[in-house]
Amino acid sequence: MPAPYRLTEHARLDARNTFGVRATAPMLVEVSDATALPELFGYAMLRDPGLLILGGGSNLLFAANPTGAVLSLQTQQITLQEDNGAQVRVRADAGVVWHDFVLWTLGHGFSGLENLALIPGTVGAAPIQNIGAYGVEVGERVHQVEAFDRQPGTLVRLDRQACAFGYRDSLFKHADDRYLVTAVEFTLDRHFQPRLGYAGIGEQLAAMGVTDAPRAAQVAEAVIHIRRHKLPDPAQLGNAGSFFKNPIVPVALADALKADHPSLPLFPATSGMAKLSAAWLIEQSGWKGHRDGDAGVAPGHALVLVNHGQASGAQLLELARCIANSVQARFGVAIEPEPRIIGAAWAP
Ligand code: FAD
Ligand code: EPU
Repeated sequence: MPAPYRLTEHARLDARNTFGVRATAPMLVEVSDATALPELFGYAMLRDPGLLILGGGSNLLFAANPTGAVLSLQTQQITLQEDNGAQVRVRADAGVVWHDFVLWTLGHGFSGLENLALIPGTVGAAPIQNIGAYGVEVGERVHQVEAFDRQPGTLVRLDRQACAFGYRDSLFKHADDRYLVTAVEFTLDRHFQPRLGYAGIGEQLAAMGVTDAPRAAQVAEAVIHIRRHKLPDPAQLGNAGSFFKNPIVPVALADALKADHPSLPLFPATSGMAKLSAAWLIEQSGWKGHRDGDAGVAPGHALVLVNHGQASGAQLLELARCIANSVQARFGVAIEPEPRIIGAAWAP
């Protein structure tokens, strides 16, 4: 029997964060069997509030080294739990790579996650910020989340309602690492209902020669094509996707900004609110393609901060603060980071 977990002291995390910045964990705990968690959490080191749960490191910025242990789940099972002929329930372990899971569902004829193809990271992290892209958020498909609750030290199940999903938001984001997600169960369809409303998907399908009734795998292919075209590949240029969330402001403020700046893109939000394009605000403030040493803004997308090589997390954070300050000064709108910042507060 392989050991259920592995401990490494002074573990380098440079290759475990997609910004590719230098960071070292005092202790890395890699867990391949989630049933070992109660035993592991018997150790004081893991009960320390400084514990960091790490997935693929694609939504993190190490502004400094983590002070506590870093725990990474390596669990890899995917199982079909239920099939009623119209819908299925599929359970995936936290350590499964998200895009591999999306491909697995498509390969089995299950649809619902195709618009979320090629998002980096793991299944376990997907509910944390309720990953979303091309008009779909993962929360719509979550049946329940299984998690190790560090407070009582037991395994709990949280249904979709309990997860309190919102735009790039969930219960987990406000729970101070109380929940270690061990697996997620998804409800998926056997009969494909395409969601093609997001700008660019229809055009890309047409360019692929798909004019009517696309298959789910073709929608995924279109999304993958658009994403490869728009976003830098972290393997080539360190980044964490969108560095800022799109700000949600009262409709009255959005309308006033739109009157002054007719090209400002607006998206629907909850009642009385509108979502602005952070990329547009940043580009208009002159930051697109900006470079300060090795810390920069992607030339192709103003929302993506990039590490051209040797930038430190602290340098990237400093650049992000300058960008946010200039957007605030020019448009009166506060923009906030999407990735979790380790070792520093956002507001200095
Ligand atoms: P990490 O970065 O390792 O962790 C992120 C957060 O989740 C941390 O707070 C961490 O502590 C917590 N966490 C991780 N695993 C667990 C667990 N098992 N239990 C409890 N907490 C956990 N996001 C989108 O929503 N839409 C996009 O379109 C999108 N595009 C991206 C494109 C690129 C090129 C990149 C680099 C990132 C993109 N992202 C996008 C952001 C990122 O891929 C997602 O947020 C992803 O879910 C992060 O997964 P991860 O495993 O890398 O998490
Ligand atoms: N835009 C600019 N300048 C740019 C880039 C875009 O003005 O440099 C404008 C575009 O013209 C468009 C608008 O911004 O009108 C929106 O652009 P895009 O469709 O690229 O979406 P986004 O708001 O930049 C969001 C998510 C992405 C997700 C895409 C597709 C957030 C913070 N980001 O990006 O998620 O993939 O939509 O759904 O909500 C992530 O979270 O890391 C991420 C990449």
